[in-house]
Amino acid sequence: MYNQKVLDAFANPKNVGCIENADGEGTVGNATCGDIMKITLKIENDIIVDAKFQTFGCAAAIATSSTATQMVIGMTIDEALKLTNARVVEELEGLPPQKIHCSVLAEEAIKKAIEDYRAKQNNKTVEKTEIEYV
Ligand code: FES
Repeated sequence: MYNQKVLDAFANPKNVGCIENADGEGTVGNATCGDIMKITLKIENDIIVDAKFQTFGCAAAIATSSTATQMVIGMTIDEALKLTNARVVEELEGLPPQKIHCSVLAEEAIKKAIEDYRAKQNNKTVEKTEIEYV
């Protein structure tokens, strides 16, 4: 059973959507359940000033995406890279053990979006349509 904080985050998610002309974009999927999450970031001077997500997935995936995007706004990219799924779960005051794996999507999507941002800074292109399964 989900706790009230998770249910609230699922029922009233924050930062849903996609940032146009995002500075970083990451899409990841869970190969077992087929759920997919895309995170887009607006970054200024290596600080995340906006984050949005689109998730095709379960309640835990949506609650953790919402919470993770709220947590990274205002962080430097180095701080955001250190954000773990365990920390997001802690912020939500826990998830049922069988749903912990769902929280990995947000951590990985943020890392991939930052990787995309850094690649763009170095004038490299990243294959955006490719979904990385975690
Ligand atoms: Fe797929 Fe939760 S069951 S992410």
